[in-house]
Amino acid sequence: MPGQSSAWWRSAVLYQVYVRSFADSDGDGVGDLEGIRSRLPYLRELGVDGLWLTPFYPSPGADHGYDVADYVDVDPRFGTLADFDALLADAHALGLRLLVDIVPNHTSSEHAWFRNALADPSHPDRARYFFRPGRNGGPPNGWTSAFGGTAWTLDESTGDYYLHFFAPEQPDLDWHEESVRRSFEEILRFWLDRGVDGFRIDVAHALYKAQDLHEMPEPEPPTWHGDWLTALDQPELHDLYRGWRRIAEEYGGERMFVGEIVLRNQETVARYVRPGELHLAFDFALLHSEWDAGALRSSIEETLGALGAVGAPATWILENHDRTRAPTRLGGGELGARRARAAALLLLALPGTAFLYEGQELALEEVDLPDEAREDPIFFRTNGREKGRDGCRVPIPWEGSGPGFGFTTGTPWLPIPSGWEDRSVAAQAGDPGSALELYRRALELRPRDEPFAWRESPENTLAFARGDLVCVVNFGTDEVALPAGEVVLASGATSGVLPPDTAAWVRV
Ligand code: NOJ
Repeated sequence: MPGQSSAWWRSAVLYQVYVRSFADSDGDGVGDLEGIRSRLPYLRELGVDGLWLTPFYPSPGADHGYDVADYVDVDPRFGTLADFDALLADAHALGLRLLVDIVPNHTSSEHAWFRNALADPSHPDRARYFFRPGRNGGPPNGWTSAFGGTAWTLDESTGDYYLHFFAPEQPDLDWHEESVRRSFEEILRFWLDRGVDGFRIDVAHALYKAQDLHEMPEPEPPTWHGDWLTALDQPELHDLYRGWRRIAEEYGGERMFVGEIVLRNQETVARYVRPGELHLAFDFALLHSEWDAGALRSSIEETLGALGAVGAPATWILENHDRTRAPTRLGGGELGARRARAAALLLLALPGTAFLYEGQELALEEVDLPDEAREDPIFFRTNGREKGRDGCRVPIPWEGSGPGFGFTTGTPWLPIPSGWEDRSVAAQAGDPGSALELYRRALELRPRDEPFAWRESPENTLAFARGDLVCVVNFGTDEVALPAGEVVLASGATSGVLPPDTAAWVRV
């Protein structure tokens, strides 16, 4: 077992493994559990505290695993339960925690419950879903799917519609149905019994829907940011998560939940991490904020204030499998690369828990894939208007050159750009100017428990102390003076001054 103290999640760095794209052990072009196991030493050396695996359960793959057909098994594409146990044992032997992804808002349309529900309208499993009669010749209400189009699909055999906030292959569960709650308690225990250190909960704010299914205003982009979803974020969730927390506590106090709570208002988010509820909630402030000192400062303050008021740690995220890669989002090319390096030092100096997304430490850019290569349901459901999320899901270049780059001996499920030879782990390892070495050093020096305090700093900059370490970031267009002290790490060249789009950690 990992050897850190309890409440380890309060200042951990967790690495998100997008299972399909991390490492392929059998040459089919798709990543798998055995591939991940073979690369655990890399994660140990990188210096993270643990990893979160995206769904690896049996799934038809309509949303690449976020459509689960069986919550207590491993998809043969990714391995077996024995492979999972071996991966978990090796992770623990290396002192790494392991979280799995639980997807309780919806199942796959291939899940036995949904098949039963379609096959026989009187089957009790039908009550696990939202089947409702239509209205005026159309769906029961005007709700739209986060992936585009209506959120309702007709069940032709009965004339009722069923609800899906995502793809039609992802029918939503009705959490007011007691059997759903009981089933998920069993699923949690199944993985806890196997020894997992916790769960990332998919769309954790969405499980219960207002029972009147009232109309909601049209979503504002970005669609994931769901404060307008007034029929979600229901009070029942807090009771549910108190129950889940009690289950985690039965396993000795070191197991944890992090909820994907996609709400903008941090006081609302904080309600999910009150004592006795979830341990952590994702904070997407860094991911959504402009590259602007004032905007970032106020969103960091808002997060720390709201979560601090309930005694919960903050979490910080720059990238994940749903969002454009940071170097591209922050301006692309040289500029984006510089900013992403500076953002990395900001991320890893903030108090709380940080999540890294695979490939972030290699400064991978969003890939502009040809439309024929795209697989994301968002691309198909919007008729190509939205390109979707494949560009941030391209497999990891480990070494050498294409097509496999050490990720696979076969053909990668999404093409890896031929120009990525110099982005590979092997090409960056040992190069002091590389993104990989910047991350390694930052993870080594990163403050964990030191107190946080803002410091005065010039216009268009942010500065804060963690004990005697000051993190300063220059968002402006002019260089600024550095605080007096020793620069222990910087995202770019500094010689007494901090250039634009650069961050430094200064021991004062
Ligand atoms: C959020 C996940 O991060 C995303 O990848 C997925 O498509 C949706 N939830 C639906 O499960």
